Amino acid sequence: MSEKQSSEKLRNIIKDSISNQKRKTVTVLSSLLAVQDSLHYIPDEAVEEISIHCKVTINDVWSVASFYTNFRFTPPGEKTLDVCWGPSCHINGAQKLIRQAHDELDIKGEGESRDNKVTLRYSTCLGACAQSPVFAIDHKMYGKLNKSKVTNIIEKLKK
Ligand code: FES
Repeated sequence: MSEKQSSEKLRNIIKDSISNQKRKTVTVLSSLLAVQDSLHYIPDEAVEEISIHCKVTINDVWSVASFYTNFRFTPPGEKTLDVCWGPSCHINGAQKLIRQAHDELDIKGEGESRDNKVTLRYSTCLGACAQSPVFAIDHKMYGKLNKSKVTNIIEKLKK
């Protein structure tokens, strides 16, 4: 697919997300949420399209988008690894395992691996404390983790 085609495709997804909102009042915020739901991030093109659709300036859209920390402006990795550092997981050794995940994925803190295959995110509780320590790949839980289980998870992610 050429760059022009993929840019057109992206704009079409954005336009559909904005115009297919099932709420009575379409706002800048609701449109940002709709785009983030379908693309998992807010590209520059979305800011332009929302500004056109909502008849506001690009700066107005940016001021709403940048106010909320849940919006991301770069594409996420193909898979998401949530690592829990909540109290139960912490007590059961999560810190070491999180460090191991960082090392094996070559990611510092939260963010994407260099090949953009993985986004690592911190969680304060994945809701499975009895299984701690817990990680999740695309919301699928992996509990009672230890060093070798984490290595297996990371290998799965790298495929
Ligand atoms: S604290 Fe880790 S799952 Fe609850």
